Amino acid sequence: MAKIAPSLLSADFANLKEDIEKVENGGADYLHLDVMDGIYVPNITFGPPVIKSLRKVTKLPFDVHLMIDRPERYIKDFVDAGADLITVHEEATIHLHRTIQEIKSYGVMAGVSLNPATPLENIEYILDDIDLVLIMTVNPGFGGQSFIEAMKDKIRKLRQIIDNKGLDIIIQVDGGVKLGNAREILDCGADLLVAGSDIFGAEDVEKRTKEFKEL
Ligand code: DX5
Ligand code: ZN
Repeated sequence: MAKIAPSLLSADFANLKEDIEKVENGGADYLHLDVMDGIYVPNITFGPPVIKSLRKVTKLPFDVHLMIDRPERYIKDFVDAGADLITVHEEATIHLHRTIQEIKSYGVMAGVSLNPATPLENIEYILDDIDLVLIMTVNPGFGGQSFIEAMKDKIRKLRQIIDNKGLDIIIQVDGGVKLGNAREILDCGADLLVAGSDIFGAEDVEKRTKEFKEL
């Protein structure tokens, strides 16, 4: 069965609790929380205080996608806010290995994300240390963009590398994922899909979440 992490970025920010309940009832596996700082990406969203408040309204595991410059400065804050998984961008931190070790030292899962132009080779030597690789299939910063087709090959190659090494790493795919292309993306080897606009933009958010789960 497909695993799905609805991205709160496309939810109704005046009614987050209600929107979260809908995806939880629909069987979502994680809640994907996009943190943007206006520096690493050209958009600003929310930070630890909002996440801490949301922690009280749902049991869903929090998948925190940090699109911020030098994320190592804030790892502890996101752990304290209730993150279960923290994903940093390979491009945003100079000492990636150290940043990963810090995330793991708090007992939460560690993920590394790659922008569309970043090669898989950049994470070759830290694969043993991480729980998840996030393949960005749009340029990060905004919801509602189109899936970059060339990323299918990248997902397939990563699947091969992980299987050849016998590693237990989740392949997450984020950006432009819709009910219409999700099957194909899963067939490339993805384990966990992020979808924002296609879930929270749907007329029936709970039903759309279930449809993803049934893929
Ligand atoms: C983009 C974010 C995504 C975004 C995806 O920078 O990382 O999580 O919410 O939105 P959709 O599914 O609309 O492409
Ligand atoms: Zn994201």
